[in-house]
Amino acid sequence: MNKQKRRILVTSALPYANGAIHLGHMLEYIQTDIWARFQRAQGHECYFAWADDAHGTPIMLRAQSENISPDELIDRMNAEHQQDFSDFGLSFDNYATTHGEANRQCVETIYQRLKAGGHIERRTISQFYDEQKGMFLPDRFIKGICPKCKTEDQYGDSCESCGSTYSPTDLIEPRSAVSGTAPVMRDSEHYFVRLSEFENRLQDWMTSGALQPEVVNKMQEWFEDGLRDWDISRDEPYFGFKIPGTDDKYFYVWVDAPIGYMASFKELSERIGLDFDDWWKADTETELYNFVGKDIIYFHTLFWPAMLMGSGFRTPTAVFAHGFLTVDGAKMSKTRGTFIQARTYLDHLNPDYLRYYFCARLGAGLGDIDLNLDDFVSRVNSDMVGKVVNIASRCAGFIQRGSDGQLASELPEPLLYQQFIDQREHIADDFEKRNYQSAIRRIMALADTGNRYIDEHKPWQLNKQEGQQANVQAICTQGVNLFRVLMTYLAPVVPFTAGTAAEFLGLSLDRWSDLDQPMLDVSINKFQPLMTRVDPLKIETMIEDSKEHLQSTETPCKPALELAAEITIEDFLKLDLRVATIINAEAVAEADKLLQLTLDIGGETRNVFAGIKSAYEPADLIGRHTIMVANLKPRKMRFGVSEGMVLAAGPGGSDLFILSPDDGAKAGMRVT
Ligand code: 2FM
Ligand code: ZN
Repeated sequence: MNKQKRRILVTSALPYANGAIHLGHMLEYIQTDIWARFQRAQGHECYFAWADDAHGTPIMLRAQSENISPDELIDRMNAEHQQDFSDFGLSFDNYATTHGEANRQCVETIYQRLKAGGHIERRTISQFYDEQKGMFLPDRFIKGICPKCKTEDQYGDSCESCGSTYSPTDLIEPRSAVSGTAPVMRDSEHYFVRLSEFENRLQDWMTSGALQPEVVNKMQEWFEDGLRDWDISRDEPYFGFKIPGTDDKYFYVWVDAPIGYMASFKELSERIGLDFDDWWKADTETELYNFVGKDIIYFHTLFWPAMLMGSGFRTPTAVFAHGFLTVDGAKMSKTRGTFIQARTYLDHLNPDYLRYYFCARLGAGLGDIDLNLDDFVSRVNSDMVGKVVNIASRCAGFIQRGSDGQLASELPEPLLYQQFIDQREHIADDFEKRNYQSAIRRIMALADTGNRYIDEHKPWQLNKQEGQQANVQAICTQGVNLFRVLMTYLAPVVPFTAGTAAEFLGLSLDRWSDLDQPMLDVSINKFQPLMTRVDPLKIETMIEDSKEHLQSTETPCKPALELAAEITIEDFLKLDLRVATIINAEAVAEADKLLQLTLDIGGETRNVFAGIKSAYEPADLIGRHTIMVANLKPRKMRFGVSEGMVLAAGPGGSDLFILSPDDGAKAGMRVT
């Protein structure tokens, strides 16, 4: 093991402060957190400094649309994000905001040094301007027809249909995505960092081992294309930090976002007494690692190190890029319910399940990671519950009941224990290199060995025989010790489970070096369930809760022969089906397929969103009857809470039928 104590700072990319966290974000944060926890478990000094990315036009516009100040919006988001992250067991040491004072200071220092070094240039450029809104338009806020393939409704920087990139002025019939009006060209003075001045140093840094080979290749392409000056200023109105010495110019959000890593560490260093300068000086011996998604490599391997080089600070020791998350083999989708927010996941499932699953899938490369939901259930159940936890649960009872919780004073098979310890360096090397998948394979192979040991020694049989108590105690002591080794290796991955395991064992699982000493002659505590099996029904509910539309809008009628899975009469009787009178119906403006219905079910009214817009004019529905599922769990949708589901028949589109107006039914009648 590496005996030298390292000083390490890790970061995850900073989430924007205008949206909820989803599982795509969590992939990176879990990857980072496992690495940070792993480093601490090796005895290194390792901090995880992080923040919300609070500036930019989208955040300004989102606050406007909610009729609140940007400050209110970013404070609310910051609290929500931190709650999600703590509930997922992320062990960040500081969580800042890029809108904070520490960041303002860091940004100004870096800017002043870049300026003093002659790296900043001012020049006038011409850009699209929305006269109605009185603002310059960022590329993503201009839409029009792709100049190459002529697809309509494409963003100002690239076409989602043919993939070509261009400048907004190339768009055919451009219009502002904020007001819908045609933008005009207007001049404004901008500030640029002359990136090409850093080319040689960036090339050296790139080949210093700081980057994955795929990233180096990408950078080589950028160098071949020539590094263009980087526009670091934005005009009013903008939510950001003002550029010192100007009245109406702001730093572009991508200037202060990565500097947020530094600022968050600054806050941390002031709080716990670290030497900030020592960590950030150019020739520091400390290490800095930025975990990022592959879509933001450009910012982290060109802009960010160039700013640091130009201002005399240290550069990242490495930037670790990863791929995107897919769910069941496809891009996350709101209509399929696979765009799962962190909070929705937490409402249904144990965070350690996801942490384990991501870990078991992650490697060091940039390939995408698939969350296959069936595989998720079987991997967690068979590995974590069926293999690891199983060892402890098979041994704990015998030690508790037969030996009063006391472990034996020696291991019956010290070589088997040694075999587990001998894997420590290999597993550590895998974690260090972010080959998490490989680390998990090794740990699970050991878990298989541990289970085989118990199977072969059958303590449950010996326990029934006279005079075998010492033997049972020895076998189970061996089992508990093997379990402890496995849980120590897994503690960075499944911290909640490790916490409960540590209580059961009565010792900390925080340091891998502690494993040199087996647990002997000590007592353990009452066994508590460490991790229960993943319930597939909970996954289904989570997916349902993640859907934006009611299911009736998404699943076309099944052909007669393709019946749904059988249910029992008991299942059916759980449905509370009622006749409901539609007392009001309105179209939901933001949804293509939904009507908002007010239903009377006999003295009680319900608000239900139903996917029948394609079949009925709202006014035609008022006064009609329908059948509703009255005891469906209310579901929060973008437009409000849906308190049930109405039943309709038909293949979809305009052929969807509810009850006729003159059926003699009365609101509230039970359907029998
Ligand atoms: O892409 C994003 O979500 C950005 N908010 C990431 C910023 S990372 C860092 F530079 F702050
Ligand atoms: Zn195109």
